[in-house]
Amino acid sequence: MTAPFPRLGGVLHSGGISLESLADRFGTPLYVYDLDQVRESLRRFEDAFAGMDLLLAYSVKANGNLAVLHRMAQWGAGADIVSGGELFRARQAGIPADRIVFAGVAKTAEEMRAGLREGIYAFNVESEGELRRLEAVAAEEGTVAPFAMRVNPDIVSPTPHEYTRTGHAQTKFGVPMGRALDLYREAARSSHLWARGIDVHIGSQILDAGPFVQALDHVATLARSLRSEGVLLEFLDLGGGYGVRYGEAGSERELDLEELAERMKPTVAELELRLVLEPGRSLVGPAGVLLTRVEYVKEGQGKTFVIVDGGMTELLRPSHYGGYHAIEPVRARPGAETRPVDVVGPICETGDFLARDRSLPLPQAGDLLAVHTAGAYGFAMASNYNARRRPAEVVVEGGEAFLVRERESLEDLVRGERIPWPVG
Ligand code: LLP
Repeated sequence: MTAPFPRLGGVLHSGGISLESLADRFGTPLYVYDLDQVRESLRRFEDAFAGMDLLLAYSVKANGNLAVLHRMAQWGAGADIVSGGELFRARQAGIPADRIVFAGVAKTAEEMRAGLREGIYAFNVESEGELRRLEAVAAEEGTVAPFAMRVNPDIVSPTPHEYTRTGHAQTKFGVPMGRALDLYREAARSSHLWARGIDVHIGSQILDAGPFVQALDHVATLARSLRSEGVLLEFLDLGGGYGVRYGEAGSERELDLEELAERMKPTVAELELRLVLEPGRSLVGPAGVLLTRVEYVKEGQGKTFVIVDGGMTELLRPSHYGGYHAIEPVRARPGAETRPVDVVGPICETGDFLARDRSLPLPQAGDLLAVHTAGAYGFAMASNYNARRRPAEVVVEGGEAFLVRERESLEDLVRGERIPWPVG
């Protein structure tokens, strides 16, 4: 894969445009997504799984910007959504309803109704209660709800943080394999439920093919049992979680998609099912960078703090998951002393950091830093804590940059609030 943000003449670029010029034009902190790179990531999935009946349902939660979603739609992707809000976003952006799968453990009747009215491809059902509610809502709507049971295969997946492991019995996700079989049997008797597929998602940022193949084997066993009972499914949804590189170039590998596809092929072919994949991070993560400007360099007691204008409100991953993101100066500083620093934000919390004890060429106030692999779960998890205005988002495509989300205004911060007493 080509480097998404190459250094040209000492300055990081995106699609031939210097990141410095983007920061000057749109301000900081700023998210920049290289859409050509996103397109390439999508192609890598298509190429790896070529020859299979594949639906790539992009996981909207990773980056739900409308422009990104719109391109996904044009490139033929569907969507994996987890809320009525994401359904709205996906449809606004032009993603066809019949390419949308709806996950999530707490779907409301209203969200189900919206999904049914739009005609989504399938609800990925996570509990018995949800299946019953879905049946009732479909009955009210006079329709049939296509669904897949999300099974919990009780696999402890090797993700970097426990919060992103979803495939073992102690998590709230999915139903046990044995229970799933009973629920499919019950659903077969309902005139408002259509068992269309089977679903599993074991976690996020997984770098080995093994756990996915293990999950596939589990659902394949269930699909075979169902087939022997006359329940003929149409698809098998293996969820998302395909790992990317967060460290410096050359520091660690990504998940080998070709290997994964090769190892999955025989089972998918034998079952003759459509394969749904829900990649999020792997499509947009490496294609995004967070640009943040150094406000101060502060010498603490035995520690150097590089204080920047973006923090946990812009990129929560380091603080929340201890996530590592490679950080580089946008303009190289030849001769700068390299030493360990903490890169910290403006938020009034000690947990507000982008990197700790990181060896960096010591920057100066006013310098720009690029925080890499920030295209997924970056802006998507941004907040207004400390009355911070959420940052602007820019996409670069074909050598052109477009502002796709304005920086929030002060007015945006108080929108919808009311003081119920006379102000004066
Ligand atoms: N499908 C389902 C059912 C999911 O729950 C998720 C992610 C995905 C697909 C997409 O996973 P991906 O391909 O992006 O790894 N905020 C965390 C990640 C949480 C992921 C939640 N579910 C982070 O920043 O690492």
